[in-house]
Amino acid sequence: MPIIFSKETGEFHLYNQDVSYIMQILKNGQIGSLYYGRRIRHREDFGHLLEGGISAGHPRSMSAYEEGDASFLSMQHTKQEYPCAGRGDFREPAFVLEAANENRIFDFRYESHEIFAGKKKLEGLPAVYTQDDGEAQTLEIALRDTLSGMRCILSYSIFRDFPAIARSVRFCNDGTERCILRRVMSASVDLPDSDYELLYLTGAWARERHVKNLKLEEGLHRIGSTRGSSSGEYNPFLALKRPGTDEMSGEVLGFSLIYSGNHLEQAEADTFGTARVQLGIHPAWFDWELAPGETFQSPEAVLVYTRDGLNGMSQTYHELYRTHLARGVWRDRERPLVINNWEATGAAFTEDKVLEIARRGKELGLELFVLDDGWFGERDDDTKGLGDWYVTNKEKLPGGIEGLSEKIHAMGMRFGLWFEPEMVNPDSDLYRAHPDWILYAPGHRPLLSRYQYVLDFSRREVRDYLYEKMETALSNASVDYVKWDMNRYLTECYSAAAPAGQQGQVMHRYVLGVYELYERLIGRFPNILFESCSAGGARFDPGMLYYAPQAWTSDDTDALERILIQYGTSYVYPLSMMAAHVSDVPNMQTGRVTPLSLRGNVAMFGMFGCEMDLNTLDEKECLLLKRQIAFVKRYRELVMKGKFYRLKSPFAGDEAAWMVVNDNQSEALVGYYLFPGSPNGSWRRIRLAGLSPEKEYTVSGREGRTFFGDELMNAGLLLGEEALIPQEGGCFSKIFVVSEKEN
Ligand code: DGJ
Repeated sequence: MPIIFSKETGEFHLYNQDVSYIMQILKNGQIGSLYYGRRIRHREDFGHLLEGGISAGHPRSMSAYEEGDASFLSMQHTKQEYPCAGRGDFREPAFVLEAANENRIFDFRYESHEIFAGKKKLEGLPAVYTQDDGEAQTLEIALRDTLSGMRCILSYSIFRDFPAIARSVRFCNDGTERCILRRVMSASVDLPDSDYELLYLTGAWARERHVKNLKLEEGLHRIGSTRGSSSGEYNPFLALKRPGTDEMSGEVLGFSLIYSGNHLEQAEADTFGTARVQLGIHPAWFDWELAPGETFQSPEAVLVYTRDGLNGMSQTYHELYRTHLARGVWRDRERPLVINNWEATGAAFTEDKVLEIARRGKELGLELFVLDDGWFGERDDDTKGLGDWYVTNKEKLPGGIEGLSEKIHAMGMRFGLWFEPEMVNPDSDLYRAHPDWILYAPGHRPLLSRYQYVLDFSRREVRDYLYEKMETALSNASVDYVKWDMNRYLTECYSAAAPAGQQGQVMHRYVLGVYELYERLIGRFPNILFESCSAGGARFDPGMLYYAPQAWTSDDTDALERILIQYGTSYVYPLSMMAAHVSDVPNMQTGRVTPLSLRGNVAMFGMFGCEMDLNTLDEKECLLLKRQIAFVKRYRELVMKGKFYRLKSPFAGDEAAWMVVNDNQSEALVGYYLFPGSPNGSWRRIRLAGLSPEKEYTVSGREGRTFFGDELMNAGLLLGEEALIPQEGGCFSKIFVVSEKEN
């Protein structure tokens, strides 16, 4: 996985066995892009790949070279690594910088570079990491604008075992005057043609990360968030795929941003048939003043290139993020099966009630009880108490959290606790004591959402207060799991404490503050399993994965809706991150009744749990749930670490299928789901994937016969009559266990 630099040609070639990424120092000192795609053989000179525009052919361009130079370089036609604004390239710039005199023209030229083994940490920001230096190599290219003294460092880490490159950017003010960063993309990638389709994940509360596809045409297509968190509306991810690319084959370029705040992803097709992709912090609500001596580090973008279709891209993200982004003891450890009281009781629970739920959970085989919202302050509903992270209502919890935790542990279960550290109700002791700790604009009424304000996490004293309260709660009681929720978006992003000239930093500093508090808590409590949550899945992003190995995927626990949500989420995120619970019917969010078999069959393709009053189940249902729980335990390692394949998209028809296969292709779990539809349907079959063509397999439900892998992957697994006769609720679902035949 070398990074080769040629002094003669000024070219950099980053490659591993799958990918080549080639750049060149242009004659004007900027960095040009020569190639990004499938690995190609190294050669001394790739200069012929440069397309720079010619004076006769592109008459209305301007040349970036000095006058009198025989050659001509139009930046509008040149593929670049980090394009600037206002210098003849009329596409979107990667950065906008403003000098003290308001000049926005900068001329960053190559100054030096460094190549080293491994990968550096990003100060205060989540990022993919290496466990030993052999796993990646990093190139840092330093560019300098001599007039201002500003330095810009482009960083590229290429992984040995993944077709992935991590990019980020650092601006350092080595000059004598302040400069303001108004836009800073983490990566900008120019591609020689624009014959692509875009794929991205969009939605809203209760329908997060639905899949969208559209053809890239001339113009700018952008998604992003200005909501202060990565949001359920647009995930910080974009893929470009060739027309005809499907799940199993074809060229895909994935772009994923490791960040939990405002973000922007965009693809621009120009009228000369080229494409530019950019992603980074959203420039709206962002201005970052850099005083002399100061540095700004961008979040990291992870680029994946594959010819193995969308599954190939997703499998790379899954494995890379599961093993080189998630951290801590819970990264690889089997996750406990959770019973959460939220949908059963809401905030107005009694200790007896939750103990009853936990007890039944234990009998059924569940392993960890989570006490959700409502245990602290005067909190019986969402109107008050948020911010007061201590038990005041002894009627509700006579022995406090300590007492409840003891009782849960005495049952042989682990104990988990809900927090929403970033928020406060006006009706709370915290707000009464510190009304200026929220984000608010002087003279304006701050907007409430769910009766809550947003605490100003850019402020150290606010975070210190929360750390102290959470640390006390978590060390007084024995707590094994924390669910960190965040139930509203940010508005009035003004900090009462920010010094003059720094209001444009508040949105980003807020996110850095969240990361900082997480880091302190996971450092103090390394054995606690953290689960991130944001009104369901509104902050389900790679940044969160660095701190919390799993996340609540959505508040929508309706099994049919969950198929769409989990299917979409799987484009980037591993199953080990997706918490998925079986809940009661009629479903709380949709009012729909689905069979317990379907609810279990969907939740088992995630980090399984339950979210209901288990005491309302009848004997038959208890038996089924108990069987599902035992089944999940038997296969949880496979689900957590296996290779996941999407087989049939619920966005394309009335059925969905997916599967996970273990490393040595000896065992797989297949989930098949048919949505309620018209009767008298067609025969169904699923073509499996990832098996060994030569191996002979047995399939559960198909006893008395074996199948070779090639048959299962090409002729497929036939569903037969079972799928023609709908189950309760008009749908059908089935799990198949595919196992290598024992000799
Ligand atoms: C939103 C979460 O997504 C739910 O699971 C629950 O924790 C509630 N918040 C509690 O307020």
